[in-house]
Order: sequence, then C-alpha cells, then structure tokens
Amino acid sequence: MSVPAAPPSDPADFIREWTVVAPPPLCPELKLHLAGPVTPLWEATETTLAETGLPPPYWAFAWPGGQALARYLLDNPGEARGKTVLDFAAGSGISGIAAARCGARRVVASDLERFALAAIELNAALNGVAIETCAEDFTAGGVEAFELILAGDVCYERAMAERVWPWLKSRAGAGARVLLADPGRNYLPKAGLREIARFTVPTTLELEDRVERETFVYRIAP
Ligand SMILES: C[S@@+](CC[C@H](N)C(=O)[O-])C[C@H]1O[C@@H](n2cnc3c(N)ncnc32)[C@H](O)[C@@H]1O
Repeated sequence: MSVPAAPPSDPADFIREWTVVAPPPLCPELKLHLAGPVTPLWEATETTLAETGLPPPYWAFAWPGGQALARYLLDNPGEARGKTVLDFAAGSGISGIAAARCGARRVVASDLERFALAAIELNAALNGVAIETCAEDFTAGGVEAFELILAGDVCYERAMAERVWPWLKSRAGAGARVLLADPGRNYLPKAGLREIARFTVPTTLELEDRVERETFVYRIAP
C-alpha cells in the first residue's frame, strides 16, 4: 500500500483500505478494523487530512481499557442487557459493540474524530449490531441520560483526564452506572474508584512500552 496522493472522499473507504479485519486479542468473538503496520497508516492519515503532527489514529486500535470493558460485559451480559448505554470516547467502538451484543436497548458511541465515527459504523456492521454514533463532546455539558456509561482508556493525557473525570463523577452522581477501564495511566484519579474486574491485556509495542498490561475495570462511586 502506498500513501494516497489525494484525500479519499469517504473515511469508510480509507478505513477499508488501510486496516485489516481481525479479532481484538481479549475478545476473539468480535471483529474490528484494526491497524496493520502502524507507521504507514499514521502517515496516510496525516496525508489524507493534510495535517502533520497528528496523534496516532486511535480508532484503529482496541486499547487495553476498551478491551477490558468489552470482555467484562461479554462475561457479564446482565450489566448491559435492556439498558441505554453510552460508549464515551469510543475509538473503534469495541465497548459499545460488546454492550450491543449483550442486548442493550440502545447504544450510542461518541467520539470527536470523524474517522472514529466511520470506524465505529463499519465495526458495528462487521459484528451485526446497531450503534448510533455521535460527535458531541458530552463533557461540555451534555445532559442526555444514559443508564450505563462506558469509558475505556480516557486518562492517558492530563488535559483529557481533568475534563473527563468531573463529568463522569457527575453522571454517576445523577444515577448512571459508570464503568471506567484503565491500564494504569498516569492521570487516573486515585480516589472514587471501586475495582470490579481485572484482565491481562495483550498490547502492541507500537503503542505501549510492554507486550501486555494489567487493566482494571472500575465502577465510579456516585
Ligand atoms: C485511547 S482512545 C480509547 C478508545 C476506546 N475507548 C478504547 O478503549 O479502545 C481515546 C479516544 O477518545 C476520543 N476522545 C477524546 N476526547 C473526547 C471527548 N471529549 N469526547 C469523545 N471522544 C473523545 C479520541 O478521539 C480517541 O478516539
């Protein structure tokens, strides 16, 4: 594959061209459009968007947090069955897809990146589930009520963690069940978390500094 000379008109075409369909290691029953070799995909993303210095295409990876949340839900389908679910900062949509597989009544996946929204739609179709996508930044004051909120790997940058944490706490305080999964990122708050599961998640050295990460699923205390 060579880096495209002109931007493709449709992010879905780009995703189909630059990813491979594969199961995330912790959830072999699911399929996702995932990065093959990361560097060419990254370069192609920057060329396509005519921007350099972009972060890696987060939507092309199943992050440890997202994998742990998905595994936890698939093993405990009653957590999502019949509920309205928000997969916040969904990336590939892995956690929301697992919730839909468990029989959630409605699943919304939010992400700020338009390629992520396209990837979520493709990934939902691959897994035969219906998911609504949403580009809204809920931390800016979204008031829509969800019974279950999933947040996988959202504490990897200080600014993001400082923005996301008060919002997740406020949702828990408003009555939502809020599950956050994290592999020990620096900006994870130290208080207000109740561990409900942990998994050893295989990772790639292209993203992490080790080949597996112990990843915790927490409930955020109201
Ligand atoms: C490390 S990825 C995690 C993706 C997924 N939850 C997982 O665990 O595989 C973080 C994602 O958060 C998205 N993001 C960052 N801030 C956001 C916000 N305020 N609202 C929605 N998505 C956001 C990014 O675009 C990125 O796709």
